[in-house]
Amino acid sequence: MEIRPFGKTGESFPILSFGAQRIVDEHDCTEDEAIEIVNTAIDRGIRYFDVAWIYSQGQAETRLGHVVKHRRAEMWLATKTWDSTRDGARRQLETSLTRLQTDHVDEWRLHNVWDFARLDEFTGQGGGLEAALQARDEGLVRYISISCHTDPQILVEALNRFPFDSALISVSALDHFFFSFVEEFLPVAQAKGVATIGMKVLGLGSLTHEVERSLRYAFGLPLSTVIVGMETMAQLEQNLAIAETFKPMSDEERLAFFKDIIPLVRPEKLPWKAVDWDNPTAWIPRGRGLKS
Ligand SMILES: NC(=O)c1ccc[n+]([C@@H]2O[C@H](COP(=O)([O-])OP(=O)(O)OC[C@H]3O[C@@H](n4cnc5c(N)ncnc54)[C@H](OP(=O)(O)O)[C@@H]3O)[C@@H](O)[C@H]2O)c1
Repeated sequence: MEIRPFGKTGESFPILSFGAQRIVDEHDCTEDEAIEIVNTAIDRGIRYFDVAWIYSQGQAETRLGHVVKHRRAEMWLATKTWDSTRDGARRQLETSLTRLQTDHVDEWRLHNVWDFARLDEFTGQGGGLEAALQARDEGLVRYISISCHTDPQILVEALNRFPFDSALISVSALDHFFFSFVEEFLPVAQAKGVATIGMKVLGLGSLTHEVERSLRYAFGLPLSTVIVGMETMAQLEQNLAIAETFKPMSDEERLAFFKDIIPLVRPEKLPWKAVDWDNPTAWIPRGRGLKS
């Protein structure tokens, strides 16, 4: 797989990385299957694993931890705090470390900063960013990160406030047409040497009929790496095959892809950019970005 540098960290990762949100019962993935999928991912060259404190009441972190226990040195671990307060975030980090069976994570993200009010909470006095700085001083966290999938201007502002090491952003081909992180945020991040991780590549299921073109589209963007949520061995195998043989799309191929998927650019197909995630009938208004 093509390897790319990860911001200013000195690390490099293959273009395909692992989203571990779905290796849980809720997605019909058993513990044995989860362990086998993660072990296979490592055996086949994947190094970067994204997870979060909030996923499935901790089951995603706990299952990843069963592999971390044996293979920590082969894995880059990124987890997240949902709690935007300093004390709450600290408690979530301590729980994450216990579940993941490690004494530190490589990246810790301020999770899902869906609007400017949440950014204020995280970056203000007594906010989660203070917990991240303290944890970095203590060696519990190596790099500080942030994630957003609503409005790219929230992350542009975040970088004005703090030199985050990385950002996790939504980059599906559908996102290209609405509040595009690729257009509005990626150039800013690149100019500042911030590592960028792409997500929502399969549009949370909206693009699973277009796996190959969706992944090729995302791999062709100037991102540091791309996480795909995988919950079966077959998905891992297919995504690895696409990554291992990746060639960027030509302009003609990308235009043909856009033409085919543009009917899907609707709030109900991009619920992460809709006013109401559970009942998506309208886009978020510019500059706001509601909870998803
Ligand atoms: N705000 C945040 O920070 C945030 C939010 C959400 C997710 N994440 C992270 O991002 C990761 C990726 O999640 P996402 O939300 O970006 O979703 P995604 O990767 O766009 O979609 C994941 C879904 O695509 C399907 N899939 C994957 N490979 C496939 C294949 N080869 N063929 C057919 N279907 C395939 C699976 O769905 P089926 O259920 O149909 O099998 C899988 O659950 C998560 O695991 C998590 O780590 C972060």
